[in-house]
Amino acid sequence: MYYICSVVEPIVVMERTVSLKGSCEIYVGSTETILPRVLPRRRVVVITDANIDRLYPDLVRRFDYVVIGHGESSKTLVTVQKVYRRFMELGVDRSTFVLGIGGGIVTDVAGFVASTYMRGLDFGFISTTLLGQVDASVGGKNGVNLNDYKNMIGTFTQPCFVISDVGMLRTLPLRELRAGMAEVIKTAVIGDRELFEYLETHSAETFFDNPETMCNVVWSCVSIKAGIVERDEREADTRRLLNLGHTMAHAIEKCAHEINHGEAVAMGIAMICDAAVKGGMLAAPDRDRIHALLEKTGFTLTAPVPTARLLREIAKDKKRSGGIINAVFPTGIGSCRVVGLTLDEFSALMG
Ligand SMILES: NC(=O)c1ccc[n+]([C@@H]2O[C@H](COP(=O)([O-])OP(=O)(O)OC[C@H]3O[C@@H](n4cnc5c(N)ncnc54)[C@H](O)[C@@H]3O)[C@@H](O)[C@H]2O)c1
Repeated sequence: MYYICSVVEPIVVMERTVSLKGSCEIYVGSTETILPRVLPRRRVVVITDANIDRLYPDLVRRFDYVVIGHGESSKTLVTVQKVYRRFMELGVDRSTFVLGIGGGIVTDVAGFVASTYMRGLDFGFISTTLLGQVDASVGGKNGVNLNDYKNMIGTFTQPCFVISDVGMLRTLPLRELRAGMAEVIKTAVIGDRELFEYLETHSAETFFDNPETMCNVVWSCVSIKAGIVERDEREADTRRLLNLGHTMAHAIEKCAHEINHGEAVAMGIAMICDAAVKGGMLAAPDRDRIHALLEKTGFTLTAPVPTARLLREIAKDKKRSGGIINAVFPTGIGSCRVVGLTLDEFSALMG
């Protein structure tokens, strides 16, 4: 029996599973019932952050554990080195299993550490934020920032399992729940018209408070992302669709540190929708629906930084490979396409 949470009771929801790349099982359900089945019977070391340690001590502290700092400024090689050193003190070796418990910052760092320490340890995640459950923990991308450049250093390594426990979302602050909604809306715009229409007709609050509905929403997003990653794990082609809104979002995050990832993604989606209309790729009424859904969910659509400054940052971004930006444009509700553009072409559409 896992006493997973000191502040809320575990929830009972229908468990769902999808297999990714034949090596990663993704579960949407309750940690209490899933973890005992999936955790290997060998030494486990947890990587988490202070909020999760405070809220879920009985889950974290039954293992050796390492606590990392909060926010993008902790998603760095400095943090990674601290964890490596702590692993050495703890005598972590290649037989140790690494369990990341937290949001996207924790799972990115834990996945990167586990993929590189002693040339790679097995690892799994308990994903505890909405953003993490619908996006960051799924797909095997594990990266850290370099200076202000997002996810510059990283690996593609699948965890053995991901547990998305919507019960743990009950302790998540409202601002973080909303941030996750940006990635939910992104997923709907990319490939799930039905989910988009559901979100249009239900307020976020109705499913924030309803675990079964929340499970359905998380499951829809996990299924779409897993399907895309299954086809293109290393982002040579279709996986780029998942970057909808992210070219502008990464620039916004770099220039305005008070904006979190989800809030920046919402602004990025709004801006690229405008560009898609300008470029004749998206009908204005569909753009208006996407904007309306983002606003209804509580997002500000205007970046707090002039577009010209964002474009200067994008010029240095890693996704501008070979002078080309692979920009993702919505072409309708539930469909997008990737267009390779020069920086000048991209700037002309965004300006
Ligand atoms: N690897 C990928 O494919 C991928 C995809 C999308 C996003 N990301 C990355 O994910 C990161 C953002 O992740 P995030 O939004 O989860 O942020 P986060 O990990 O910083 O979590 C947000 C806050 O919520 C707290 N928290 C987490 N779970 C909680 C819970 N259950 N109850 C109470 N508090 C809780 C955390 O301590 C933190 O303060 C970004 O760095 C982004 O680049 C990665």
